[in-house]
Amino acid sequence: MPDRREIIGAKSDRMHSGAATSSLRHMSSDDEDLPIRVDFRDPATARTWIEETRIKRPYRPRFFAAFCAALAPRRQLRILELGSGPGQLAREILLHCDVHSYHALDFSQAMHELAAEHLGELATRVTFVIRDFREPAWPNGLGELDAVVTLQAAHETRHKRHLVPLLERARTVLAPGGVLLYADHYLTPESKLPGLSPARDDQPLALERAGFVDIELRHEEGNMALWSGRNPG
Ligand SMILES: C[S@@+](CC[C@H](N)C(=O)[O-])C[C@H]1O[C@@H](n2cnc3c(N)ncnc32)[C@H](O)[C@@H]1O
Repeated sequence: MPDRREIIGAKSDRMHSGAATSSLRHMSSDDEDLPIRVDFRDPATARTWIEETRIKRPYRPRFFAAFCAALAPRRQLRILELGSGPGQLAREILLHCDVHSYHALDFSQAMHELAAEHLGELATRVTFVIRDFREPAWPNGLGELDAVVTLQAAHETRHKRHLVPLLERARTVLAPGGVLLYADHYLTPESKLPGLSPARDDQPLALERAGFVDIELRHEEGNMALWSGRNPG
């Protein structure tokens, strides 16, 4: 593990009600949160996910490229990645974009260790943060950032009604003009856990509800879409 690591204990107050949550009710059921089925905190599970995902989702490199293209015009970026996992997106962004600082936030020590392995020398430029983004206080102390990026992780709040609160909190760490890049799967008739995924049209709506403007679709493939939104300040 690199030295620049921060371990922060979980707080007890969970993400729950609030204006934004209730405003999302129409796009979600009132189901309970879905239990964690794949626990990425287990090292063997984390490794298996990486291998299976490489085979099952061959289109992911095109999402990495779309994240990089969206960030490319910006300089000296202070970036936070939510649910950074094995560091694949971080690696592409660090190699192809002008990055001043990179915080990789994940609740899995095992994933951070795999990310450090995957990043090699680039890991020295990353601050690994162990934190649970279901806890409302997760943004505390992260400072002001220029970009928050997240890929295939927002559904890990374990219910789509938590999406707007998650994005609202992400906006609190963004400087005026800062960008959010959010990619995740959307609901299809084949979705096995419909409580986790918003409908495709509800994804940009969630960014809007969270206070973002200039919302744009950046890439779409494999029932997954990448959206960008700007923090108006
Ligand atoms: C499906 S993986 C995606 C990883 C990475 N974004 C990627 O696409 O390669 C989801 C990641 O979210 C992390 N995660 C799940 N629940 C989390 C939580 N409540 N707080 C922080 N990270 C979480 C997992 O540990 C895992 O690394």
